[in-house]
Amino acid sequence: MSGDGGEVARAEQAPAPQPLRGRRVCLGVSGSISAYKSVEAARRLEDAGAIVDVALTPSAARFIPPLTFRSLVKGEVAVDLWDPSAPAEQHVAMGRRADAMLVAPASATTIAKLAQGIGDNPVTLTALASSAPLVVAPAMDAVMFAQPSVQANLELLKARGAFIAGPGIGRLASGGQGLGRLLEPVELAAAVRSAIGRSVGELRGRHIIVTAGGTREPIDPVRFVGNRSSGKMGVAVAEAARDQGAAVTLITTQGRPQGGYGIVVREVETALEMQAEIGKAARGAHALVMAAAVADYRPAEASESKLKKQDAEQEGMTLELVENPDVVASIDAAKLLKVGFAAETDDLIRNAQAKVAKKGLAFIVANDVSQSDAGFQVETNRVVMLDANGGVERLPLMHKYDVGWAILDRLRAHRGWA
Ligand code: C5P
Repeated sequence: MSGDGGEVARAEQAPAPQPLRGRRVCLGVSGSISAYKSVEAARRLEDAGAIVDVALTPSAARFIPPLTFRSLVKGEVAVDLWDPSAPAEQHVAMGRRADAMLVAPASATTIAKLAQGIGDNPVTLTALASSAPLVVAPAMDAVMFAQPSVQANLELLKARGAFIAGPGIGRLASGGQGLGRLLEPVELAAAVRSAIGRSVGELRGRHIIVTAGGTREPIDPVRFVGNRSSGKMGVAVAEAARDQGAAVTLITTQGRPQGGYGIVVREVETALEMQAEIGKAARGAHALVMAAAVADYRPAEASESKLKKQDAEQEGMTLELVENPDVVASIDAAKLLKVGFAAETDDLIRNAQAKVAKKGLAFIVANDVSQSDAGFQVETNRVVMLDANGGVERLPLMHKYDVGWAILDRLRAHRGWA
């Protein structure tokens, strides 16, 4: 077997994460050309473990044949209130059993009906029959979206606790660019996860700061000293915390993650910028999960212009490095529990354990980055969690998202957890 094949086979041993396992989601689709994205959103919700029921307005059923959803989802599809073959009071049952309702795309008309409590089609009636959190994902022409009437209706829904997801800026079916594009399916599914977390998650009312990615310490405007960290582990922890209802600040060198709905993202480059951003977020926060790979050293000076190759006579060049602060050790705030990561290539346990006390951590998550299915770049990780009292918890090969849950579970069980 080739090396690559072997790695894939091992990665597959970790079951795919199911953040929505056991949840029932009602997807309400209204009339918009962007309704094709709701098909993909339904699939993503079910891939995440949910059972999806679908309600269509009459105009949605013109854009997407109900058969498409019937063939795709495990739940029911409601299209026609007067269909004698449909279960009686189907909208009431669907609304009651939903853990969340996602209306995507939400047209201006559907938004108005939701705001005013009008129930005249399967989508609006199901919404009326449900007390689950409501996620509304508008999709329309930019001028329509900017109408004071539409904005007022959205404000009304927001004031009543609905989550407004999007719209995004981009190419519109009505022509040109503008604000009115339905969010991508990955974001719609993330919005549902976030809404369920905020309504029933274990971390409601908590603020978790997560750092991700390798810092980039500038040498000159185009070069930096960096490392191989992809930021995947940190993003996974941030998603898991978001899905449990926490307010999450993700401080990352890797840009805004896809599916980051509900996560406040602060982009940074260097260790010093990361330290400053954590400092700003730390007051009142409950935990700092330091998954970032912080460079221990940075160039003493970053040149303002691109460094040129030296004369032929001069052999090589010397870059002077100075030490970065130990960021996680430097942060101190009341109530704040700190979790560190240790990427080691040898003597994993001893090296990691030494860092717990030194950095003032509640515990440290150690992984052996010399393994091909754990550590940098990959979706899976095999970690050991070590605390100051010599407690050792070994986890099997897991998806990073599930490692994130395990870390948060351990945090909640910690005696310092406020
Ligand atoms: O690099 P080291 O193994 O010491 O990293 C352990 C933990 O300390 C990690 O959570 C890392 O994010 C953090 N760290 C830090 N500032 C540094 C180096 C590491 O906060 N300068």
